[in-house]
Amino acid sequence: MNKLKVFCPATIANVSCGFDVLGLALESVGDEMVVKKIDEPTIRISKITGQTLPLDTHKNVAGVAGLAFLEKSDYAGGFEIEIHKKIKPGSGIGSSAASSSAAVWAMNQLLNQPFTKTELVQFAMQGEKLASDVAHADNVAPAIYGGFTLVRSYQPLDIVPIPTPEQLYATVIHPQIEIKTADSRKILKTNITLANGIKQWGNVGGLIAGLFTSDYELIGRSLEDHIIEPIRSILIPGFDDVKKTVIKSGALGCGISGSGPSIFALSKGEKIAQIVAKSMATVYQTIGLDFDVHVSKICSTGIKSIS
Ligand code: HSE
Repeated sequence: MNKLKVFCPATIANVSCGFDVLGLALESVGDEMVVKKIDEPTIRISKITGQTLPLDTHKNVAGVAGLAFLEKSDYAGGFEIEIHKKIKPGSGIGSSAASSSAAVWAMNQLLNQPFTKTELVQFAMQGEKLASDVAHADNVAPAIYGGFTLVRSYQPLDIVPIPTPEQLYATVIHPQIEIKTADSRKILKTNITLANGIKQWGNVGGLIAGLFTSDYELIGRSLEDHIIEPIRSILIPGFDDVKKTVIKSGALGCGISGSGPSIFALSKGEKIAQIVAKSMATVYQTIGLDFDVHVSKICSTGIKSIS
């Protein structure tokens, strides 16, 4: 096999309470990428459609992740990458992670899987570092593993896959403004109070327990963020109204997707997730801000080859 076409899922990082440690992959939102073996020991980005992004390997997240892969690999050749973007950069649903993780996943497949998933996450994190100045793993881990993932530790990197309850659906709305992850990290405080820490790690534990036992109400009670959301939500027009209306519409919980501006909600069943999508849309129609809205199952496979 010399060439592979892959689906690269969008991802929701943080999932409210798990800043930089929790994430999930979406089934019906994502990019596509074609990766081909070449003889020269280099990474070449040959084409990008859908968005204007750099073709220069060193300035492109897929290029940088690919170089990290090549550096550790015994393979004497290189790869050519074609990227078809559907996820907008700066939307908060893991645009850079989709590209960097899909590149290294496809390369690994083309070489008969010399690297583990954790090693692939490490390479893809170099792309995140280029995009946001911080090598966070909470988008690339679910893209590569699928489902929900927990980054239990960064040093050493320890990724824990978490099961997804069968009827869990995500609704994501992207108000058409761009927030750069690097900028929305700069406004965060570096210290937290013990009182907020107690609430936050209670919720992380609760969410993980709820996902393991398919306890939808526990999942809902745990989707609370006492540390990041109060600061970042100020950057997102209509955030409080969206949150109030989706909870009234029956969502289990709601929060900022990654570093925003997208807002996500989790619901039990597709029917409620669709009602939630309509109620989110109403808020932005009233404000007069353009938006994209998606309803998706959780993607259990992560990145996958497509024909
Ligand atoms: N955990 C990262 C952040 C995710 O919130 O800054 C960015 O998508």
